[in-house]
Amino acid sequence: MHPTRRTLIAASLSIAFALAPLTSIFAASPAPVKGEHGMVVTAQHLASEVGVEVLKKGGNAVDAAVAVGYALAVVYPNAGNIGGGGFMTIRFKDGKSTFLDFRERAPLAATKTMYLDKDGNPVKGASLDGYLAVGVPGSVAGFETAREKYGTLSRQDLMAPAINYAKDGFILDQGDTASFSGSAARLAKDPAAAAIFLKPDGKSYAIGDRLIQPDLAASLAAISEKGPDAFYKGAIADAIVKASGAKGGILARQDFEQYAVRELKPVTCFYRGYEVTSSPPPSSGGVIICEILNVLEGYPLSYLGAGSAETVHVMVEAMRHAYVDRNSALGDPDFVDNPVSKLLDKTYAKDIRDRIDPFRAGVSQDLMPKGFGESKETTHYSIIDNDGNAVAVTYTLNGSFGAGVVADGTGILLNNEMDDFTQKPGVPNLYGLVQGEANAIQPKKTPLSSMSPTVVAKDGKPFMVIGSPGGSRIITITLEAIVNVIDHGMNIQEAIDAPRIHHQWLPDTVYIEPFGLSPDTEKLLAGMGYHLDPSSTTWGQAAGILVGGKSLAEIEKGGGARYNGAIDSRAASGEALGY
Ligand code: GLY
Repeated sequence: MHPTRRTLIAASLSIAFALAPLTSIFAASPAPVKGEHGMVVTAQHLASEVGVEVLKKGGNAVDAAVAVGYALAVVYPNAGNIGGGGFMTIRFKDGKSTFLDFRERAPLAATKTMYLDKDGNPVKGASLDGYLAVGVPGSVAGFETAREKYGTLSRQDLMAPAINYAKDGFILDQGDTASFSGSAARLAKDPAAAAIFLKPDGKSYAIGDRLIQPDLAASLAAISEKGPDAFYKGAIADAIVKASGAKGGILARQDFEQYAVRELKPVTCFYRGYEVTSSPPPSSGGVIICEILNVLEGYPLSYLGAGSAETVHVMVEAMRHAYVDRNSALGDPDFVDNPVSKLLDKTYAKDIRDRIDPFRAGVSQDLMPKGFGESKETTHYSIIDNDGNAVAVTYTLNGSFGAGVVADGTGILLNNEMDDFTQKPGVPNLYGLVQGEANAIQPKKTPLSSMSPTVVAKDGKPFMVIGSPGGSRIITITLEAIVNVIDHGMNIQEAIDAPRIHHQWLPDTVYIEPFGLSPDTEKLLAGMGYHLDPSSTTWGQAAGILVGGKSLAEIEKGGGARYNGAIDSRAASGEALGY
């Protein structure tokens, strides 16, 4: 936006509200964790320890990411997994970057209408519970591809901690048990899942109990010894296919045999001079974060202030426009021609800004595309090593504990990622996303994701590693952490902890955290035409690292710690661990 116009808008907004903040507000947060040689931030403290031990042994950030991925499958079973899939964004010490897509694929027998009844309406729960909801898992293939291409240590070394935690068990603390009790009723429906995650009397595990997973230990040991073939071409695939066939699923041995990881070029964009590297399709994450950042670049967010009505207004409008594109235009790149370069064009961002009324809320129905007829459910971890290799991984079972099913003898929870597809254009999914044809179900296709493992760089050096769970909110959670650091000067912990807002085009509602905005700000926004909802709880648990200081101010002064880690204060069991 032309500076004069920007200044005019900023000035007129301030006059209109007569309440523009004199200074930015800051979140009250614990200090970020410091490290000089490496940093690992995950949603479970034992997994963070596993990652740091790998770094201390001389492994690089990719080695640590693989070991953490397997460890979380044991110690964070509601989202950590080998029965799901995910993404890994790697920025190497030489500034190059890459992206591994090991997300689930639709089974070969999948059809566009597989979740609809004879009248064409979605069957409740069909894409969420049980074997019909399961996509072909990718995590094992993804971790092995990462290790073989970019790691330095053996598979056996990297998997040993996970196998030990599965075999010997680990003591559950308050953060661990919270997720178990919330899913007890669902897990009780599958005898194999109940045998692992519920006590023999059917009750949930309590604080201080030890969770032992011998079947999972055996599956992990087989993968450690024989490699991914043990999962995709051996007894594990057979057991899952057998259970699927017996319980209403459509998974076939061929689905497992054909699974292949894709190595893709990450999405990159520049925001106020910072280079953002994130997930390309089949995730919408990187594209939509960049689209929103491009729109926001034309507004003086730092001047407007964190949490002010003006800032919330322009952020929500940028989100509204970008989520229309997300939900209507993006899909698996092997099936859909994604308009990535258009969506990332700064001119397109300016067109969007020109359509944003400075004083009024937009109306989502007016943006209806042509042709339209977490949270604990995902987990993100951020790692950086002594050489400056940065790895961001987000992986998932989709819903908490996925489809809630375990094939007998495997100990492996299976995902319900099929729910991320469009079941029927215009009908909301688990996250309330209303999506279109580009994300329709097809055999071997990957459902559109929001996962956004992101690395930000400045002047050719890593600056920030960030990502989050949270379903459709992953994008706005990750975005807000970046904006809070770059525009509002928060330190990495404050940036992650700060109250959040979210808008995803439909429903036409601004989700805000309870107590996230002051009553006067809420009144200003309501006066502009916004419908605010402070009741929802799916706000994700971000995990981030800032390089060179805990905040921009400290980096500019010099003298900050080299690595500064922060796990979301919303996370019950996570830890940032440096060394
Ligand atoms: N299952 C959540 C996502 O991939 O966006």
